[in-house]
Amino acid sequence: MIYKKLKPFPQDFLWGASTSAYQVEGANLEDGKGPSVQDVKKVPEGTSDLTVCADHYHHYKEDIALMAEMGFKVYRFSISWSRIIPEGVGAVNPKGIEFYNNIIDECIKHNIIPLVTMFHFDLPAALDAKGGWSRRESIDEFVNFAKVMYENFGDRVKYWLTINEQNVLTLMGEVIGTSNIKSSNPKKEAYQQNHHMLVAQAKAMALCHEMIPGAKIGPAPNISLTYAASCKPEDVIASQNFNAIRNWLYLDMAVYGKYNNIVWAYLENLDATPDIEPGDMEILASGKPDFIGFNYYSTATVEYSDGSEVNEKGGDQQKAMGEPGVVKAAANPNLQKTQFGWEIDPVGFRSTLREIYSRYRLPLIITENGLGAYDKLTEDGKIHDPYRIEYLRKHIEQIQLAITDGVEVMGYCPWSAIDLISTHEGMVKRYGFIYVNRDEFDLKDLARYRKDSFYWYKKVIVSNGEDLTD
Ligand code: BG6
Repeated sequence: MIYKKLKPFPQDFLWGASTSAYQVEGANLEDGKGPSVQDVKKVPEGTSDLTVCADHYHHYKEDIALMAEMGFKVYRFSISWSRIIPEGVGAVNPKGIEFYNNIIDECIKHNIIPLVTMFHFDLPAALDAKGGWSRRESIDEFVNFAKVMYENFGDRVKYWLTINEQNVLTLMGEVIGTSNIKSSNPKKEAYQQNHHMLVAQAKAMALCHEMIPGAKIGPAPNISLTYAASCKPEDVIASQNFNAIRNWLYLDMAVYGKYNNIVWAYLENLDATPDIEPGDMEILASGKPDFIGFNYYSTATVEYSDGSEVNEKGGDQQKAMGEPGVVKAAANPNLQKTQFGWEIDPVGFRSTLREIYSRYRLPLIITENGLGAYDKLTEDGKIHDPYRIEYLRKHIEQIQLAITDGVEVMGYCPWSAIDLISTHEGMVKRYGFIYVNRDEFDLKDLARYRKDSFYWYKKVIVSNGEDLTD
């Protein structure tokens, strides 16, 4: 559709950016914090561990002041479960509560709305050692953690996100260091963990509404449309399979409290349906999100699988895609790639926004979107990142087109506010508007520098998305 005129961004549009606790904070065992699975995992060779990261724990004031300088309306960050409750259950760590109180207060001081992710890939190691999400008890453990957060921060935090990328946790836990599957039917165990997370999420959403008047809460999966590699009808069926497995399972559950039928049939076929206890479906139906948060990096492309091929893995975003007899990963010749091999698809962003909105009719907030690159600090203290500006500009243009399509978009939080450690590609894969002066292993002085994209994003925000020029 070629429009004669585009609709503007809403006046109260939430411009901001995101981070996650284990990737940005550092101080990983300081002030009473217990280890999380991220602290005990074997980090990929050649990449930094997570002990210092961007040292946001000690630099949060400076960092939030820089976010305020960019004009952020919202800052999306996550709360580390094991900083608050070191063993996952039981004693609460007052220093952990104090740290997040400080972050929240600092945001409010600068008129930045705190948007809190409750859980971002960092299960307390003590819970993981007991079996993590595979155990039924994990539901109550998470709900207890939610209650502690609501009690302590609910007076000031009115926007909550439940679980970051539950679909990535389920489909590719080994890549992000969260997998804890022991059974002889790994698929069934993965979907049992997923079921426990879904029930926990529904309970946490209901509890949020009960405990914090006026609060809004939503899920934060990674959603990106899957294309069929051709107009062959069989390829279209494959794309529907993968859209259901990768995307709709999670949102159908969060919004409607129902298992997606295609995914259920797929799991039945594999003998991998999760055990559902009496009452679970009622709980799932009772958790009502107020909005949908989602992370978007790129689309995927698939073709029909006749079941005979050896599973071929694609780029990072495509790792979990191939599954003989279900779907076969395919390349998309129409897309360029980042320095790290991730496909770039701004138009796919618009189609993803359209598709989510027409399925669920809830306001949308983009909780991650961005470009990882090898940024360089010049001798005069500059970081020229035109590739990031171009990536973000093209995606913001597509948000405006989606808004013109009638999609209700309430905010945009690119990944990431500041450089941090990537899930599995280390510190050299930088995403931030703010450069952190450290290398993979050399911590240098951790000084902060404004990248070119910092100044650009500031202009975007002040013009409410009207000025996207350099
Ligand atoms: C998302 C995660 O999957 O993508 C973030 O929520 C992550 O935690 C981001 O950092 C980018 O991925 P990566 O692997 O480049 O760090």
